[in-house]
Amino acid sequence: MSIKTATLNGVATIEIARPEKKNALTVAMYQAMTDALRAATADAAVRAVLITGQPGVFTSGNDIEDFMKRAPGQGSEAMDSPVFQFMRALLDCDKPVVAAVTGAAIGIGTTMLLHCDFVYVSDEARLAMPFVSLGLVPEFASSLLVPQLMGHRRAAEKLLLGDPFTPEQAVDCGIANAVLPAGEVVNHARRVAERFNGLPPGAVRESKQLLRAPQRELMLTIIATEGAIFARRLRSPEATEAFQAFFQKRKPDFSKF
Ligand code: COA
Repeated sequence: MSIKTATLNGVATIEIARPEKKNALTVAMYQAMTDALRAATADAAVRAVLITGQPGVFTSGNDIEDFMKRAPGQGSEAMDSPVFQFMRALLDCDKPVVAAVTGAAIGIGTTMLLHCDFVYVSDEARLAMPFVSLGLVPEFASSLLVPQLMGHRRAAEKLLLGDPFTPEQAVDCGIANAVLPAGEVVNHARRVAERFNGLPPGAVRESKQLLRAPQRELMLTIIATEGAIFARRLRSPEATEAFQAFFQKRKPDFSKF
């Protein structure tokens, strides 16, 4: 299993552990993370959730091979897919979620950070949302949240050009709280999560819900719209060319489209 879970001292940790594939996320891994998030949400002994990766890599995003073989369905079926279930569990988690970004965070690796409450990035981390260069579109309300965080111009660099960004830029544009040395990021994030052991859980829960409430319905509508386009684009010749190029370790050729 490439997802390790443990609950210790009030913190449920979800560790992505598939370093040989740069922590690329398969359907089975999404299912395991969904189960862990739902269990943490239901367990009164859990006061916060910590999501982390491996040294040098947080996650390289969707496992492209798995995604090509088992693309989320289209229409309402898309909402039942493991990746949607995981992101829905993250949106529904009413406990604080802290991310320790141990390294590269690509695609959904960055998107999921938009839905965490605290984000600490290693000084070796690189973030990127290269959806367009994969023939895809932004996902899970990133088309709403990224421009809100950093303004349209910088969002266009990240979402249309897919420019990677440094840990300092992630803090500067509001995606992350702080940059930590690589060897300290997980412990720092854990200490933040453990602080919730000393706070009243009901007040934390209702406050988190209030922080998210004004945009919740809008986010869910946008997630459905993005999801439908994303699912259609996954089957497009542009995406097929991009994915094939990745595995053939060559530059994609979009000149024919
Ligand atoms: N899906 C499937 N396999 C992946 C993957 C992904 N998202 N990311 C990495 N891998 C695999 C590679 O194919 C390679 O497998 P191999 O050893 O069998 O050839 C292995 O993981 C190591 O990856 P590699 O690219 O050699 O490592 P790197 O250190 O040079 O680069 C990344 C790391 C994360 C920058 C690079 O792997 C990458 O860009 N991955 C794709 C990210 C992406 O586009 N994600 C969005 C998907 S929607």
